[in-house]
Amino acid sequence: MQVIILENAQQVAQHASRWVVELISQKTNPVLGLATGSTPISLYQKLVKSHQEDQVDFGHVTSFNLDEYHNIDAENEHSYRTFMKNNLFDKINIDQKNTHLPTCNKGENPREQGIAFEDKIRLAGGIDLQILGIGANGHIGFNEPTSSLSSRTRLKTLTKQTLEDNSRLFQPDEYQPTMAMTMGISTILDAQYILLMATGKNKAKAVNEMITGPLSAKCPASALQLHEHAVIILDKAAASELS
Ligand code: F6R
Repeated sequence: MQVIILENAQQVAQHASRWVVELISQKTNPVLGLATGSTPISLYQKLVKSHQEDQVDFGHVTSFNLDEYHNIDAENEHSYRTFMKNNLFDKINIDQKNTHLPTCNKGENPREQGIAFEDKIRLAGGIDLQILGIGANGHIGFNEPTSSLSSRTRLKTLTKQTLEDNSRLFQPDEYQPTMAMTMGISTILDAQYILLMATGKNKAKAVNEMITGPLSAKCPASALQLHEHAVIILDKAAASELS
């Protein structure tokens, strides 16, 4: 595990975007693992800018997102498909047929959907670079504390803390999904490179547990200690509780 501490969130995004651009420029068929949430938004802004300045061509890129809410229309404003379209896919030249999210809608079997998603990743040749954020409770993807370290893509119930953390995105009277399909911890660890970005003081405790704590299902991100090429990019606030 390599830990890089930078001054602020913009520098974190800049650093991460260099990794992504380099991968896309070097590989014939790059496969990206993508995340939603607040943290990667500035990374996506930088990637869009690089694309507009002709520095990066996404025409040959395939992507797999970490997670998607259970039983949500792709067009729903809260779906992660909509998030990805608004923040990245509609602003670059990626072929949207090559962008995948682990969906499970009415009438579909979560187990079968999970297996099909894993098969797609395998068929694409595996994920070259997985972008991650971290939850204040140490989750990665929606692998909440107590998730099995050997888990693969499946349906998970979101914890109270995650629901509270994400409630800022929903109106008080709006339905907030309580379950999501997510890549498992083992799925994430299969990626060739992992780049986890964390910014802000509210992530400092989880960041410390991930890096210095025991490998434990209590902090799912601690599983990254097992990965040979995991790079953790932090701003000073997120690094402030490193012991
Ligand atoms: C998002 C995801 C989550 C987030 C995490 C941090 O696809 O899988 O694990 O990365 O909840 O979210 P933010 O960046 O909003 O603090």
